[in-house]
Amino acid sequence: MSAQRGLACDIVVFGGTGDLAMRKLLPALYYLHKDRHLHAETRILSLARAKHDIDSYRRLVQRHVSQYVTQGDFDPTVWEQFAQRLDYLSLDVSQRVAFPRLAKALGESAGRVRVFYLATMPNLFAATAKHLASAGLANDNARIVLEKPLGESLETANQINDQIGTVFDESRVFRIDHYLGKEAVQNLMALRFGNALFEPLWRNAHIDHVQISVLEKVGVENRGDYYDNAGAIRDMVQNHLLQLLCLVAMEAPVHFEPEAVRNEKLKILEALRPITGMDVQDHTVRGQYSKGKRAGEVLPAYYFEKSVDHDSNTETFVALKAEIDNWRWAGVPFYLRTGKSLAQRKSEIVIQFKAVPHRLFPQGSDRPAGNRLVIRLQPDESISLSLMAKSPGRGMALQEVDLDLNFADAFKRRRWDAYERLLLDVIEGDATLFMRRDEIEAAWQWVDPIIQGWQDCYRSPKRYAAGSWGPDAADSLLERLGHAWLDERS
Ligand code: BG6
Repeated sequence: MSAQRGLACDIVVFGGTGDLAMRKLLPALYYLHKDRHLHAETRILSLARAKHDIDSYRRLVQRHVSQYVTQGDFDPTVWEQFAQRLDYLSLDVSQRVAFPRLAKALGESAGRVRVFYLATMPNLFAATAKHLASAGLANDNARIVLEKPLGESLETANQINDQIGTVFDESRVFRIDHYLGKEAVQNLMALRFGNALFEPLWRNAHIDHVQISVLEKVGVENRGDYYDNAGAIRDMVQNHLLQLLCLVAMEAPVHFEPEAVRNEKLKILEALRPITGMDVQDHTVRGQYSKGKRAGEVLPAYYFEKSVDHDSNTETFVALKAEIDNWRWAGVPFYLRTGKSLAQRKSEIVIQFKAVPHRLFPQGSDRPAGNRLVIRLQPDESISLSLMAKSPGRGMALQEVDLDLNFADAFKRRRWDAYERLLLDVIEGDATLFMRRDEIEAAWQWVDPIIQGWQDCYRSPKRYAAGSWGPDAADSLLERLGHAWLDERS
């Protein structure tokens, strides 16, 4: 085997039998191994309470990795090599006495980087960090990776961050938001800051409004336990959607390095106009899916999903109107929307430009006047810019045409999964695409009053049929200002 890149390190996955480890982390590590991005001496140690010997654990991982990597990418020979890196320890991470066993299994660190990846419930984060320290494992070469959502409010996030901070200084804490690892999301930065074309137009003088949608077809699947406490606002809005909003709205950082990028994102979070009191009802919509149908398939109601309370009031859908109080964005609505069990899977950012100031030509289409830039993150990464062109034939009727850039066509190389990129960044100690503590706090500061407003009004979430586009109220939210979600609804 030829020399492999990267630093030799130990990657310790807490929650090693969980959904995230099986669906995302281990497949990503398999790809990193396959593409020779892991040092030959890098080891992976998974931890969970379940009893497994190494063979049964490797079989479990093999089953999932072969299922979750792209068809044709699973190579039994590569798998055999990868499996040699993989070890398993059955351990109850809530128990301090378990950690000396972990220290023993890891052996001498000899200056190796150690990545402790906490793919567990956030209520275990603080105790885990403390136990790592008590077992002498939180040394200068150790990094801790925390999955979102971090806490369930500003207060609980602060408690966790304070406790983690007593063990790991900020430079060794990697708060992950996997949306920042997506190629298409980084492309948004490339588009904005690598091209001079858009910058002069990227402001309220020219932009009418922005839409950010992360729509999913899947329901809560096997994550009812977690999701029923979190809901869409904590699961998606507080992190993924606000991070996307930051990347659309932030000023150009001076350097592409962690503090510069995160300073700019923070300014946007701090400029978000608070949504409080009665405004919560006006500016936000929360929904929950009831029984429905998609392509003939009957889809269950949320409250019939596994581990979900039958009386649950948890929202599986949120739409809201955000406003950014700064010079660049004053007066431009940013509509955010996310939900589960919807008609389509699609994540996209729509930048709707203003119409021409004076219309010379008749317009043939019923689409809103004004150019539109659509940055599609999923399912197909693409950027499309709508322009007005003359419709062929007599007269000067205009019609909208799209300039399309599809990344799969433009770059024939395999697209990395977000977790591959982010795991490599952690190994290399690059925190640019991770959230700093103050970003998390500013995001909670904005989200907490919305949750409070929902609780204070005692209203249940609006029902929407599974397989639909969400509650009608989400459409009305935009109609009030003469806008509409850019969906191709049948
Ligand atoms: C996770 C959420 O962070 O993101 C999930 O917890 C959601 O509920 C997922 O399904 C969506 O990620 P992606 O990459 O599939 O869009």
